[in-house]
Amino acid sequence: MKIAVFVSGGGTNLQAIIDNTKTGILKDIEIVLVLSSSPSAYALTRAADNGIPSVVMRAADYPSREQWDSEMAECVQKSGAELIVLAGYLSLLGPKTVSMYSNRIINIHPALIPSFCGAGMYGIKPHKAALARGVKVSGATVHFVNENYDDGPILLQKSVDVLPGDTPETLQKRIMQECEWKILPKAIRLIADGKVSIENNIAYVTE
Ligand code: GRF
Repeated sequence: MKIAVFVSGGGTNLQAIIDNTKTGILKDIEIVLVLSSSPSAYALTRAADNGIPSVVMRAADYPSREQWDSEMAECVQKSGAELIVLAGYLSLLGPKTVSMYSNRIINIHPALIPSFCGAGMYGIKPHKAALARGVKVSGATVHFVNENYDDGPILLQKSVDVLPGDTPETLQKRIMQECEWKILPKAIRLIADGKVSIENNIAYVTE
């Protein structure tokens, strides 16, 4: 299966996918495109280091959001990608891209949706909110993407205990290492194997 990975920052989730295509559970998966919302994203360096074509598409660089959305949809379609993976991608997708890839876009969110998600809840913020609320577990969620933030059917979740003395930074690192970098590749595997179905906005995995 061919996938496009959308990024905005460090690209550690992209790296986890790359590593799994080389020596892990994604050997038959081809990353045909990395699309970044920022020209300075280190994820672009990770793509270049692995010979993966990349493109920067910032809504601000286009006359309108509609044109940005249309050109994004066309760019991904031309790449041959069958699945879009949002990996640390911070922009809301446009309706044309979402409808062209209906139920074929997944996102990794660094909290257990529906907790600590929605507009503005990205990066370190979900972890700060989790510690401020005093939750005893947190984790990450892979969900299908629609036109709203963090709103589509939940596919996979993985939790970790919140430990005494945790800071937002230590919690974020543990969730990335023990949750994000594991369930995002696993979600791609399940979809590639045709083991995922969606009914009434609920995602089901058939092992
Ligand atoms: C991660 O916490 C991810 O869950 C969130 O963005 C952060 C950075 O991801 N979506 P990455 O290192 O750019 O993959």
